[in-house]
Amino acid sequence: MKVLVIGSGGREHAIVDALSRSAQVSEILCAPGNAGIAQQARTFPVKDTDIEGLLKIALYEKVDLTVVGPESSLAAGVVDTFKANGLRIFGPTKAAAQIESSKEFAKNLMAKYGIPTAGYETFTDYESAKAYVEAHSLPTVLKYDGLAAGKGVVIATTPEEADSALRDMLLDDKFGKGKVVIEEFLTGPEFSLLCFVAGKEVVPMVLAQDHKRAYDNDEGPNTGGMGAYSPLPFITDEDREYALEKIMRPTAAAMVEEGVPFCGVLYGGLMKTPEGVKVIEFNARFGDPETEVVLPRLKSDIYDIFCAIAEGRGAEPEWSDKATLGIVLASKGYPGDYEKGHVIEGLDKVDAKVYHMGTALKDGKLVTNGGRVLFVVGEGADLKEAQQAALAAVEQIECDNLFHRSDIGHQAIK
Ligand code: AMP
Ligand code: GLY
Repeated sequence: MKVLVIGSGGREHAIVDALSRSAQVSEILCAPGNAGIAQQARTFPVKDTDIEGLLKIALYEKVDLTVVGPESSLAAGVVDTFKANGLRIFGPTKAAAQIESSKEFAKNLMAKYGIPTAGYETFTDYESAKAYVEAHSLPTVLKYDGLAAGKGVVIATTPEEADSALRDMLLDDKFGKGKVVIEEFLTGPEFSLLCFVAGKEVVPMVLAQDHKRAYDNDEGPNTGGMGAYSPLPFITDEDREYALEKIMRPTAAAMVEEGVPFCGVLYGGLMKTPEGVKVIEFNARFGDPETEVVLPRLKSDIYDIFCAIAEGRGAEPEWSDKATLGIVLASKGYPGDYEKGHVIEGLDKVDAKVYHMGTALKDGKLVTNGGRVLFVVGEGADLKEAQQAALAAVEQIECDNLFHRSDIGHQAIK
């Protein structure tokens, strides 16, 4: 079987790697891919939002299945177009992907179906948003409604911070013309529950936790994610069961009820609050970097799972008991401005999985080509072992423009 993967990050590299373990898959194509993916797949220089370009590859190459990585491709309608052309594709339609692309859609759905989440209100007008913030307690959570590459969320602890964020979002249109959802501030450990979903069929994956802040001790600005690990000892079987029965299954059923059935990966960004597990956000795709620690634990053939879900059937994946812990190597300056093109060496010495997030080849040398550059995954019998393996592997990698967190897993490893 021939499979096309769309995307260019660590998530897509992990998907390509999982597909490469399938006995049924003879060839993997990836668009646009990156330098690491190119070692395991044939890559095409076609953007993940160039739907016509992607369609041409799929038709010309007669691919048996396409797997979509990024939200940008989903929001551009790749699944709708591929389906209209009779192609098998894994991912939600543009309408179903609204559960991620529109905070208001997600919040309204949760309110209508009683799915536990933070209280909220939506605003388009700066003055009324400001008045609402002034009438409520701080901290408060301000979310730009739309895709803002993880930068559209501000947790304001002072009236000045709240005002400056509201100005950015509603007066200066920093992310474009849009709305703001103002939310109640929740507390507790966060975790990610990714599920394969086909209509009402919900098939959970193993739990993972991301680390959103740039620096150790969860300090610094929010990023796309600086590290992840699996499993999560502080989430009990009861919590997980609750999250499945009260959040993930009802949400899948609600999408069917609303006439926008979801097919693909539904990502629950959840928080274990003192009042129980609540939704922070939904994503309509595999998480990045969660996927890079979850898929290495998958023992079943991922090609079978992708096909089953794409055809609206359930699946029964098996997972290994080993622990995985991964560390992001990011360009200095990320999530702000950063340089590209710094040479990376030492990867040949690394005895661990390394997924490329943002790399390229320049004059035959591997160079940095993004904010998040590499993801190094340690494995072990427990998280402590996995953490040691990941940190040891990171030490082997040489590059003068990368930084990483050294405390990934701190909530679970004492
Ligand atoms: P989001 O893009 O919605 O995942 O938000 C980014 C990050 O902001 C989350 O991972 C949380 O750490 C934090 N956050 C979002 N919403 C809330 C909330 N209602 N209460 C507390 N923290 C939140
Ligand atoms: N790890 C966060 C995300 O994929 O959105």
